[in-house]
Amino acid sequence: MPSRILFVCLGNICRSPAAEGVFRALCPEVETDSAGTASYHVGAPPYEAMQAALGRRAVEISDLRARQFGPADFAEFDLIIAMDQSNLEDIKALRPAGNTTPVRLFTDFAPRAGMDHVPDPYYTRDFEGCIDLIEQAAAGLKQHLG
Ligand code: 4NP
Repeated sequence: MPSRILFVCLGNICRSPAAEGVFRALCPEVETDSAGTASYHVGAPPYEAMQAALGRRAVEISDLRARQFGPADFAEFDLIIAMDQSNLEDIKALRPAGNTTPVRLFTDFAPRAGMDHVPDPYYTRDFEGCIDLIEQAAAGLKQHLG
């Protein structure tokens, strides 16, 4: 079982901290972190509306702080999970030569949802739908890990 999993989105204040929070609650034995491909929000706590929406499901993420994804993360994690295709491409562009750490879309683990990305509620404002999808993908990921 991969023991270190990194969740990545653009800003690291909405989708990836939510994914980290849901997954660590489900699978506390796995070491988790999250990061953003962009640096806009480095040091910031998760987006307030996402914290509130997760809080209604008893998932606490107020301890998380945004950081930027970097090439060193390929050696630090066993599995890197992107929220959308753009994240996936930005992550792969930073892969050091010779590195083989798997990089996957989170929605790969929720095939029945029929989605190819996790829509960003920072723009859509659909926090509940985003968390529903994250919960499905987190359960699928746990199953995948065995
Ligand atoms: P996230 O959402 O990638 O799910 O954290 C975003 C939050 C903020 C911005 C973009 C995406 N932003 O441009 O400020």
